[in-house]
Amino acid sequence: MADANSRSGQVYFNGPILDWCDATHAPHDEGLNYAFEAPARAGMPPIQVAASEGKLLELLLRMVGARRVVELGTLAGYSAIRLARALPEGGKVWTVEFDPRHAEVARDAIARAGLSAKVEVCVGRGVDVLPTLEPHGPFCAVFIDADKESYDVYGRWAARHVRPGGLLLGDNSFLFSNLLDDTPRAAVMRRFHEEAKAHFDTVNVPTPDGLLVGLKR
Ligand SMILES: C[S@@+](CC[C@H](N)C(=O)[O-])C[C@H]1O[C@@H](n2cnc3c(N)ncnc32)[C@H](O)[C@@H]1O
Repeated sequence: MADANSRSGQVYFNGPILDWCDATHAPHDEGLNYAFEAPARAGMPPIQVAASEGKLLELLLRMVGARRVVELGTLAGYSAIRLARALPEGGKVWTVEFDPRHAEVARDAIARAGLSAKVEVCVGRGVDVLPTLEPHGPFCAVFIDADKESYDVYGRWAARHVRPGGLLLGDNSFLFSNLLDDTPRAAVMRRFHEEAKAHFDTVNVPTPDGLLVGLKR
């Protein structure tokens, strides 16, 4: 994994260094810890963002003064809590989750973090739920972390519904090292990257699996 993170093949971090940085800059309080541990407790895949990525999402939202945010892919609510904590009083996160069991676990973790008023967990497929959210827009940020086969669709929706100066955030933008493969899935993810550039000023942050960040023109 490590070699894939640098053009020169050289990387300058390892597990203990990342752990130290997480503990120093992105520590968990009780609410975050409960949400982070929830997938393991509930027998769900532990595929939430890492602590530093969660904190990065939080800071990026604060930098653009985000108030209304859409997330695709809730899992157990860890990133939704990070996103919601960045918002001022009256701000809201709509987080979309396909699996009703995941949504239930997330609602519990979000309630434990004291954020039920700020986070609405919407159950359904992203492509079906997004049109129902449009009356709440325009949005300040869209964070995409659900089915990789739909990233291009989600990116196009974000281009239409994020306000100027708002953010497009796409996790797993390296597609687990498969971004350059000759597969339909990889083609979708490359299209997501390429189309994002038309509407957002973009960069790919080389987190372990990549985070595409775009600022809406
Ligand atoms: C990587 S996890 C999300 C992790 C979460 N963002 C976090 O960091 O805490 C992806 C989630 O997307 C959900 N998902 C998969 N396909 C989906 C779809 N078509 N629409 C909405 N959610 C979907 C999965 O059930 C899973 O819970």
